[in-house]
Amino acid sequence: MSERANTSEMLSTDHLLGIQDLGVADIDLIFRTADGFKEVLSRPIKKVPSLRDITIANLFFENSTRTRISFELAEKRLSADIINFSSSSSSTKKGETLIDTVSNILAMKVDMVVMRHPDPGAAVFLSKHVRACIVNAGDGTHEHPTQALLDAYSIREKLGRVKGVKVVIVGDILHSRVALSNIHCLKKLGAEVMLCGPTTLMPRHVESLGVRVEHDLDKALRWCDVANMLRIQLERQGSDGISNFPSLREYAMLYGLTMERYDRAGKQITIMHPGPINRGVEITSQVADHTNSIILDQVENGVAVRMAVIYLLAARIPRAQ
Ligand code: NCD
Repeated sequence: MSERANTSEMLSTDHLLGIQDLGVADIDLIFRTADGFKEVLSRPIKKVPSLRDITIANLFFENSTRTRISFELAEKRLSADIINFSSSSSSTKKGETLIDTVSNILAMKVDMVVMRHPDPGAAVFLSKHVRACIVNAGDGTHEHPTQALLDAYSIREKLGRVKGVKVVIVGDILHSRVALSNIHCLKKLGAEVMLCGPTTLMPRHVESLGVRVEHDLDKALRWCDVANMLRIQLERQGSDGISNFPSLREYAMLYGLTMERYDRAGKQITIMHPGPINRGVEITSQVADHTNSIILDQVENGVAVRMAVIYLLAARIPRAQ
């Protein structure tokens, strides 16, 4: 990889707030850039000096393991200076507003903010009120754009293309930011998308996004090339005062991907999961660890894809040459 982004190939956006910020050409550029970074990550010294002059703040107002570590590693591999902040140890607990917290951090000459927040729209809100490049690392039930990018990238790597691939997203679609970002990303890239889950976990009018809805997992598996199994977002259930399903046991019986169900579909299905997995609920260990499972490839690709996103967004930040 060259040290600086080729200025003739730029993203069309200054922030990554949601997949809708990106055109197909942007996604293609991110994927080609990630291919280069995957090669860097296979070298003995897994690091490039590209972002030595960039400082990034990782602001996590909601729990995260994988995404936080993945962003942090991506930034370190690009040689950026980074600061990490989680809400449990911050002044937000003392009543400070989000804008004040971020403005204070930016006053210390920070160029980019990677933020996870429990409120949908938090990243968009921040981008309108502070002068820094914002990357949405998950905003409540709304979007998780880098997860969708790494998911589509992993499908492209495994099957050689995304266009025309049949992907079923299974589970708690209603509360899942991964589902919404995946729908937007896969549709842009020409995949066929089906959603599968109980009616109570399916957003109303979701077909208007150009997806099919199927409530029978066996039928969905017979249709698909790829099954992306989602975790029940237990922490977000009942926010509307409604219990969305009777029990995890019943959910697992109807929507859990077992080896028996997988075999019954009678075809090779690529298995995905954004993590964290609840083994025995949405997926059994046998399926999660199956040779057709690309769950750990998704995690590996996450670093290269996030490097690409940060590198390309940094190229749009005005800075001294
Ligand atoms: C997802 C998330 O946080 O939205 N996980 C992740 O980013 N790796 C999915 C989930 O929590 O179920």
